Amino acid sequence: MYYPEELVEEVRSKNDIVDVVSGYVRLQKKGSSHWGLCPFHNEKTPSFSVSAGKQIYHCFGCGAGGDVFGFLMNYESLTFPEAMKVLAERAGVALPEPQEGEEGRRGDKKRARLLEVNKEAARFFYYQLRDPRGEIGYQYLKKRELSDETMHRFGLGYAGKSGANLVQYLREKGFEDEVIKEAGLASYSEKHGLMSQFWNRVMFPIQDRNHRVIGFGGRVMGEGEPKYLNSPETPVFDKRRNLYGLNFARTARTGNMILCEGYMDVIAMHQAGFTQAVASLGTAFTAEQAKLLQRYTENVLLAYDSDGAGIKAALRSIGILREAGLTGKVINMKPYKDPDEFMKALGREAFEERIRQAENSFFFELRVMEGQFDMEDPEAKTRFHREIAKKLCGFSEAVERENYLQAVADKYFIAAGDLRRLVENYAARTGLAKPVERPKTSVKKRDPEENVKRGQRLLLTWISDEPALYGIVKKYVSSQDFTEELYRLVAEKLFGDLDEGKYNPAGIIGMFEEEEERRLVSEIFNTNLPKLETKQEREKAFHDVLLLVKKNSYEYAASHMGSDVNALAQVIEGKKALEELAKTHISLE
Ligand code: GTP
Ligand code: MN
Repeated sequence: MYYPEELVEEVRSKNDIVDVVSGYVRLQKKGSSHWGLCPFHNEKTPSFSVSAGKQIYHCFGCGAGGDVFGFLMNYESLTFPEAMKVLAERAGVALPEPQEGEEGRRGDKKRARLLEVNKEAARFFYYQLRDPRGEIGYQYLKKRELSDETMHRFGLGYAGKSGANLVQYLREKGFEDEVIKEAGLASYSEKHGLMSQFWNRVMFPIQDRNHRVIGFGGRVMGEGEPKYLNSPETPVFDKRRNLYGLNFARTARTGNMILCEGYMDVIAMHQAGFTQAVASLGTAFTAEQAKLLQRYTENVLLAYDSDGAGIKAALRSIGILREAGLTGKVINMKPYKDPDEFMKALGREAFEERIRQAENSFFFELRVMEGQFDMEDPEAKTRFHREIAKKLCGFSEAVERENYLQAVADKYFIAAGDLRRLVENYAARTGLAKPVERPKTSVKKRDPEENVKRGQRLLLTWISDEPALYGIVKKYVSSQDFTEELYRLVAEKLFGDLDEGKYNPAGIIGMFEEEEERRLVSEIFNTNLPKLETKQEREKAFHDVLLLVKKNSYEYAASHMGSDVNALAQVIEGKKALEELAKTHISLE
């Protein structure tokens, strides 16, 4: 955090969220909230609510949510310090220089400067493309069937034949040679001085998920080497942690993401309406990028090239997705080379059909593997079956393994019993199925712990809705009972505040820096509580939720105590508290 908490609170308290949001969204008061059409997804009936009491917003449609800072950050794609500046100015609060170590500040300043020079360079390329002298670039993109609107949306540009022009332009804008070089936009040679890296190429600015230009890809128009020239890594351009197109894809909310290989593929997909398409940045797909996708979805569709290299890349990416706990499916692009060509030839509806037919990544792997065995040869066929068995051992969950086993047996006409024996054999020989541990994704629906999470969330919702309840429950429950880390943090803050007689949900949301976390916290403060008619029903439901949370907390402690004596004492304590709670009637008066 850059500013002291009191200052953040002052700025927050002087910017009523209803006022601020009203500047962007038409709101109508209904009940205790204001309602409008959500600006973060497409909708026809309002499910976007802003609460003056809690000073937070939440969309019941897409799950967006947060405090007044978060709203501005999302809507205007600002960083927190930027949102802070806007709101401080709006409320007439003077801000000091950000407080941070000298080192950090210099790093921030440098990054800010690199982002500025990139933005200016993108602007330069953008105008070049629309200048008569950039006609050749424009015609190239036109020939590739990109509309003016698409070119504009992706900020496409053109780097002219003279590499000196960009440098001159940037110098005139006040950028030092050092910055231009460090951004990877130009390099120095004895003979030519500082010259742009990019010339005679159509330019693809690469944006991070907040629409900031962090680097460039430049394509030769026609044949030539290298086909694409990409910016080198810089302090703002981390190729492992960004994805091309994510700035748009992150709000597509289609329930999946489509992973492509190339920039042109992403652009063609978006133009056809598939705004959930992204691509890695001229390098192989990474675990970090899988993590990034995991924030938005658990379903990733691969739209890779249909050639041998594409298949190889797909196999690699499938493994990475699987380790991140994501479900991968492969879209068949044949007879076309890549999504761009597919889209041009067959169009949107045909692609939608291909999405529906996308192949489960496990079967895709088997199919590729099958190609390496001569199925006419009984011995090769047997080896293939053994390989299948080996792969089946990769499923750690018995049920999942069995389901796949059945499906594979059907598909390849193998007797399920025989295949099962092969699996058991292999498992016995190798000490079995100790496969990839799957990290849990926050969006996973089949999560067996979902019930407990729901209980913890419900309890927090209930208390935040009726803060007076805290006085009743604090005897039984503490923040330590929340085994979900995010919930524990919220509970710590909420209970701490209430102990001091304070109540500030928006402030709690504001503690979280990741947008995804703010969404989850806003959900806590906005979950609809079960509709309960009578006082008895309410009391019973509340008691049950409390008991569920407490029971899980006890079980968690018991299974994690190891050999620590203190922990043992705590667990015994917990068990007693639990038994007492089970018998206690809690009155909600
Ligand atoms: P088009 O031929 O313009 O349609 O390209 P594409 O989108 O089909 O890309 P392709 O499948 O050829 O390559 C996929 C991605 O790999 C590109 O978007 C680039 O990021 C990267 N790439 C391709 N060629 C080169 C190259 O010569 N050098 C580098 N560094 N990256 C490349
Ligand atoms: Mn292509």
